[in-house]
Amino acid sequence: MKIGIVGAGNIGSALTRLFRTAGHEVTIANSRGPESLAELSAETGARPASIEDAVHGQEVVVVAVPANRIPTLPRELFASTPADVVVIDTTNYYPRQRDGRLEGIEDGRPESEWVERRLGRAVIKAFNTIEATHLQPGARPAGAADRIALAVAGDDTRAKSKAMALIDGIGFDAVDAGAIAESWRQQPGSPGYLKDFDVEGVRRALAEANPERQPEWRATPNSPGTYESPA
Ligand SMILES: NC(=O)c1ccc[n+]([C@@H]2O[C@H](COP(=O)([O-])OP(=O)(O)OC[C@H]3O[C@@H](n4cnc5c(N)ncnc54)[C@H](OP(=O)(O)O)[C@@H]3O)[C@@H](O)[C@H]2O)c1
Repeated sequence: MKIGIVGAGNIGSALTRLFRTAGHEVTIANSRGPESLAELSAETGARPASIEDAVHGQEVVVVAVPANRIPTLPRELFASTPADVVVIDTTNYYPRQRDGRLEGIEDGRPESEWVERRLGRAVIKAFNTIEATHLQPGARPAGAADRIALAVAGDDTRAKSKAMALIDGIGFDAVDAGAIAESWRQQPGSPGYLKDFDVEGVRRALAEANPERQPEWRATPNSPGTYESPA
């Protein structure tokens, strides 16, 4: 499959490696430009490109930038993206550690609903629930007893099925977590977040989730601090 990845940091580079291992054609972009991606490209065979090239002509586009960088993406980035292209959002909102206050999320919207509004495009929410460093070592063949499951939310059932098949193909079970309006069930602070549960564990965690944003996942007047010293 032709996959574009916007953001080649922790999560974007881990996904680049897994997608390439599974034989996909991968185009990668970041904010500093293709030259800065030479090393990852040499290692994986992914093609470094502009942000626009990582989106245009792809079958799947993964957005892997920090939440507070979503508004810095080009305004019309997805304006001509065909409806059948699957756009996957990996974003998590870390107000105290990194992102600062994002009003559209603080007012109660699920994080990926805010992303959809900013991008002007429906997304599938996936890969947000696992540590980037667990992706490569955690990949297992289908049927393995210790296979990790990932929650996948989205409104378009066809796009969601495609994302779930992609996830299965790189070594993880995929669990349908419902619509984007319910994707608070897999956000930071939810019972399954960063837990590496199996299918049953993810289903249970999604069912037990609470829609109320907990204080530690809300901004304060001093936000953002740092990961070492959240504020
Ligand atoms: N880290 C994890 O374990 C993990 C796991 C699941 C989900 N997530 C979520 O995934 C997202 C990315 O996290 P991360 O840890 O991978 O972040 P990261 O390591 O800081 O990498 C961010 C990437 O986004 C790029 N970027 C920033 N602004 C951009 C722009 N305007 N256009 C194009 N590229 C841009 C950066 O490019 P430059 O370096 O060139 O600026 C960098 O390649 C976050 O929302 C995070 O919460 C992270």
